[in-house]
Amino acid sequence: MKNITAVVLAAGLGTRMKSEMPKVLHKLGAMTILGRTIHSLKEAGVTDIIVVIGHKADLIEETFKDDGVRFVRQTKLLGSGDALAHAVDYLDKEKGSILVTYGDTPLILSETYWKLLQAHNKTKASCTLLTCHLSETPPYGRIVRNKDGKILKIVEDKDATYEEKKITEINVGTYCFRNAHLKEHIKDIEINKKKKEFYLTDIADIFVQNGKKVVSEHCSGEEAIGINTRADLAVANKIINKRTLQKLMESGVEITDPDTTFIDERVEIAKDTTILPSTVIEKDVKIASWCKIGPFARIRPGTTIAAGVEIGNYVEICRTEIGSGTKVKHHTYLGDTTVGRNVNIGAGTITANYDGKDKYKTIIEDDAFIGVGVTLIAPVKVGKGATVGAGSVVTKNKDVPEGETVIGVPAKPYKAKKEMIR
Ligand code: UD1
Ligand code: CA
Repeated sequence: MKNITAVVLAAGLGTRMKSEMPKVLHKLGAMTILGRTIHSLKEAGVTDIIVVIGHKADLIEETFKDDGVRFVRQTKLLGSGDALAHAVDYLDKEKGSILVTYGDTPLILSETYWKLLQAHNKTKASCTLLTCHLSETPPYGRIVRNKDGKILKIVEDKDATYEEKKITEINVGTYCFRNAHLKEHIKDIEINKKKKEFYLTDIADIFVQNGKKVVSEHCSGEEAIGINTRADLAVANKIINKRTLQKLMESGVEITDPDTTFIDERVEIAKDTTILPSTVIEKDVKIASWCKIGPFARIRPGTTIAAGVEIGNYVEICRTEIGSGTKVKHHTYLGDTTVGRNVNIGAGTITANYDGKDKYKTIIEDDAFIGVGVTLIAPVKVGKGATVGAGSVVTKNKDVPEGETVIGVPAKPYKAKKEMIR
């Protein structure tokens, strides 16, 4: 998008987070808080992005060094108004507009940034504020309007009168300004005597006093959430998860209970698969159609599950490939394992993939039958159509040949018919 620079203010101390790590580097779904804002701005078509950093600036700069953004350092943390003033020095163009957003409001959708920019261009306003109406108002800035609905100013919660606190329209902290007008008036912001900070929010009043047009565009209450505390982060994570589940359901995945299901954004699930309650699916997992996963299953990174697989309760699967039609229905751990097609994994089967130093692979070939309570000590292979009797321990490198039946601790070939131990 031409003539648009986005400025993300991310220099603050993030004191309320009570963390050694800069607030904006905390994880929110698959990205960091700040990473998500940068991502949404890029999705909205903004290519020139300045991030204002201060607290633990080196760490933030290092984290985003490959993201194609520019950094500006705020030397003393004197408030959001001062942070933006630092970035304004880097806006060489008089023409065009600037989109300002905070590094701690990562739930704003790219569509909303796009809508805000379009509205700002259309109305030719000097400033377009992103606002939203909330039924309960957290301590956010309030939008004060006159009787005709014209914006007069933003008042911070700490400075609001009793009447102003009742206002339900809040300041999201995202603004579009005409470059020239912002340059003209940013220096007019005076220090807030109570907080000893320059509030960017004072700019609305300054613009109005100087006859500049200030209008607003709305977003949903969910998008407006600013992450100040760990509790805010938990709420935001829930929203990201809800959005992920919504997309999956729209693509044909059945999710019985979205309230207790957590699926990473980087998971691929094909249509007609059902995810049952209290299931956690972590990043880089692929699940084909017609599977049943859960309830109470945990599928960890690097797992691929083919069509028609059933994974039941209290099953953990990690870095594992599972062939079509296989059943792993109860109380099992499979790690670093390749499981073939139509395999039955009995309740309580454990792959011992880690010897305290290194991790090893287990291979279970097509049509194998693993009885209940089996331990497979990796590296080991169970051949095609082989049977491992209940309670057996198959020791490392003692591969079970194709069609063979083994039982015992350590597992040894079993002479009687395999039907007797299945
Ligand atoms: C701010 C707004 C408030 C709005 C709310 C929405 C101001 C004065 N208030 O309040 O109207 O409703 O966000 O979430 O802006 N920052 C710097 N340098 C500083 C201080 C802050 O870069 O010296 C950055 C922070 O890193 C943060 C942003 O500015 O990303 C906002 O600062 P914060 O202290 O979180 O403001 P709020 O109290 O949340
Ligand atoms: Ca904030």
